[in-house]
Amino acid sequence: MLMQQRMFNLPPVIHFGPGVSKNVGKIALEYGAKKVFFIYDKALGEMPKGIAKILKDDGLDVLEFNEIVPNPPEEMMEEAAKIGRDANVDLVLAVGGGSTIDTAKGVKVLLTNPAPLYQYFGMGTVKNPTPPLIAIPTTSGTGSEVTSMTIITSPKNSRKYAVGGRHVPCEAAIADPELLIPLPAPVTASTGMDALTHAIEAYTCKLATPISDIFAIKAIELISNSLVKATYDGENLEARSDMLMGSLMAGVAFDNAMVALTHSIAHPLSARCGLGHGAANAAVLPYVMEYNAPVCPERTIDVGVAMGLNLQGLSREEACKKVVDAIFDLNKTLKIPTLKEAGVQKSVFQDIVNDAMTYEPPTQFNPRKVTAADVLAILEKAY
Ligand SMILES: NC(=O)c1ccc[n+]([C@@H]2O[C@H](COP(=O)([O-])OP(=O)(O)OC[C@H]3O[C@@H](n4cnc5c(N)ncnc54)[C@H](O)[C@@H]3O)[C@@H](O)[C@H]2O)c1
Ligand SMILES: [Fe+2]
Repeated sequence: MLMQQRMFNLPPVIHFGPGVSKNVGKIALEYGAKKVFFIYDKALGEMPKGIAKILKDDGLDVLEFNEIVPNPPEEMMEEAAKIGRDANVDLVLAVGGGSTIDTAKGVKVLLTNPAPLYQYFGMGTVKNPTPPLIAIPTTSGTGSEVTSMTIITSPKNSRKYAVGGRHVPCEAAIADPELLIPLPAPVTASTGMDALTHAIEAYTCKLATPISDIFAIKAIELISNSLVKATYDGENLEARSDMLMGSLMAGVAFDNAMVALTHSIAHPLSARCGLGHGAANAAVLPYVMEYNAPVCPERTIDVGVAMGLNLQGLSREEACKKVVDAIFDLNKTLKIPTLKEAGVQKSVFQDIVNDAMTYEPPTQFNPRKVTAADVLAILEKAY
C-alpha cells in the first residue's frame, strides 16, 4: 500500500495502573505547576477531596470547578475558563469522564486564547500555546485523555463540534483502574460501547492506517473480553484495567483514523435528544456495521476474530453476519436501550439525517458512500 501524506498523533505521557492517581501532585510539579485548576465531576462523591488533598500536601494551590454537564456546552467551558483566567491558574487537572476532560480541554484553550470557542471549530485552528493539562479518566469510554480534540455541544445550534490540534490534548494522562470501581453498570456499559465503536470505526473507516490498526485491533480484543465483566462485576480490577487500557487504545486509534457513520448519527442524537454519547453510539453501531459490511467484509471479519469469534468455514457473508449478530447480542447483554426506549421521537429523524449528511465530518470517512435514505433506514431499524 502506498501511504499518502499523513500526520500521526501519538499520545502524551501515560501513567497507568492501580493506585497511580496518588502520584498526581508529583506529576503536576513536573510541569512546574503552582496553582492547579482542578476540574472534576460532582458525581464522583468523596474521591475528588482525596485528590485535592494530595495536591495540597504537595504544596500546590488548588482552585476547584465542578459544574460539569454531560455533552458539555460551550457556555460552561467559557464560564469555567473565565474563573481560571481571573485566578491565574497555571495547570489544569481534569478528573471525570469525557465530559469533564473535554471541558478541561476547552478551558485550557481559552486560558490563552480569546472566547468564543466556536471560532476554533476544526483542527489546528487554536493559535496560542496553552497551559499543561493532566487528565484522570473515570469512565472507560471516550479515550479523551489521549486524543487531540474536545467535543463541544452548542445548545443554541443543537449541534456538537470538535476543536482539535496541537494546543488541545492533555500533556499527561493518569489512568488508574481503581477509580472506575464505583462507575455504575449502565454507564460502564454505554461508555464501553463508545470505546468499542471508536475501535471498530477506526479499523473499518477510510482513513485506517497500520498505526491506527494496531491500536484498534488490540482495543477490540481487550474491550470484548472485559466489557460484560466490568459491567456486572464492577469490582473486578482486571476487567476495569482492561477496559481502561482498551478505551485508551481505541482513543489513539480513532485520533489517527477518525470515526465514521455511527458517530455522525450519534452526535445529533445527543445534541437534539439528549442521549448520552455511548448509548447513542451503541444503539446505532450494529446497524451501521450491517450496512457497511458488504464494502469491507475482510475488515469486518477481522473485527470478529479480535472479538474471539470462531468464523472458520463460513462464507464471507455468513462470517460478517455472525460479527454483526455478536454486536446485537452484546447490546442485549448490556441492556442498551433502543432509540425508542431512550425516548427519541421519530419526528426528529429528518433533522438527524440532515445533520449526518451535511454537517457531521465523520460521514465522509465511512467506508460505504452514504445517502440520506440509508441514514433514515438505519434510524428506522434502530428505533
Ligand atoms: N475528546 C474526545 O476525544 C471524545 C471522544 C469521544 C467522546 N467524547 C465526548 O465525551 C462525552 C462523553 O463522555 P463519557 O462517555 O465519558 O461520559 P460522561 O463524562 O458524560 O459521564 C457519564 C455519566 O457518568 C458519571 N460518572 C463519570 N464517572 C463516574 C464514576 N467513576 N462514578 C460514578 N459516576 C460517574 C457522570 O457524572 C455522568 O453522569 C461526550 O460529550 C462525547 O461527545 C469526546
Ligand atoms: Fe465516541
